[in-house]
Amino acid sequence: MDRKALAGRDFIESLDWPVEEIEEALAVSAELKEKFRRGEPHRLLPDKTLFMLFLDKSTRTRNAFEAGMTQLGGHAHYLDAEKTQVAHGESPKDMGVILSRYGHGIAIRHDLVPYEGNAYMREVARHAEAPVINLQCDVDHPTQTLADLMTMREHRGEDLAGLRVAVSWAYAPSYAKPLSVPQGLCTLLPRFGIQVILAHPPGWELMPEVMANAEQAARDGGGSISPTQDMDAAIEGADVVYPKSWGNLDLFRDEQAALAASKRYRDWICDARRMSLAKPDALYMHCLPADRGNEVTDEVIDGPRSVIYDEAENRLHTGKALMALTMGGYA
Ligand code: CP
Repeated sequence: MDRKALAGRDFIESLDWPVEEIEEALAVSAELKEKFRRGEPHRLLPDKTLFMLFLDKSTRTRNAFEAGMTQLGGHAHYLDAEKTQVAHGESPKDMGVILSRYGHGIAIRHDLVPYEGNAYMREVARHAEAPVINLQCDVDHPTQTLADLMTMREHRGEDLAGLRVAVSWAYAPSYAKPLSVPQGLCTLLPRFGIQVILAHPPGWELMPEVMANAEQAARDGGGSISPTQDMDAAIEGADVVYPKSWGNLDLFRDEQAALAASKRYRDWICDARRMSLAKPDALYMHCLPADRGNEVTDEVIDGPRSVIYDEAENRLHTGKALMALTMGGYA
């Protein structure tokens, strides 16, 4: 496809982009990864500025986009929302219009409050002239799931149709993690023919509107989403095991209650016994940060089937591809 066509486009949910555009983003990611490995300059966005507004913490996303923008020849401003007028209630419209006049792209993380983040960034995008990239919201974490898809292809080949991916809830005492990664995996992977087996305890259901869209996309894409409340059953025969924690939708505004309720499911951990249920060569994946010793044992996350560092590295290459495409690097 013509890469110019993606200049100026927002990337808020992976569902907003047809499969052929996602394929183009993956192709650019692979090209930029190779150039980075060879030390070949790839200054596709010279003198351009990306504003990155964070309403939550980040290690991978911030650094992948910030380093990536430097490698593309531009600059990324990190904006801690608490240090901006967003904290005083400045409107998404005013943010979108003004930042568009200062630079060439806006990226936002607003993921901690269900039914707020996606609506906020769509409102910014409605008024911004610059493209808006979702760095994780309540609905989707599309820059993460694109990196996950790239990692699966690197390890399992281009055609992922029929691959069984176990996306399971796991216990974590650290904080109520957003629902957007499992939702994003359910939304994106079945569009490539992947069979997602989604496991969680009763009460840890994902957002119903998002899952309805994911199921429709799965039907259109030839993949599937099969829910279960049994972690072992999800992992049995899986090609990829992707267990991670997420918060309880009904208890999101009361983190202590959510964490207390989740203690009942402390045995939802990915350990060697559970990995032995998967295919012998199954991959272990996690978007990170992981609650080691709770979501997963060190033996598994540091073991030979774990591809977590490839997955984290691919955040850089996919992030750069998305910036280059949407911010006019090929226009
Ligand atoms: N996976 C991910 O988004 O990591 P950060 O929260 O560190 O950005």
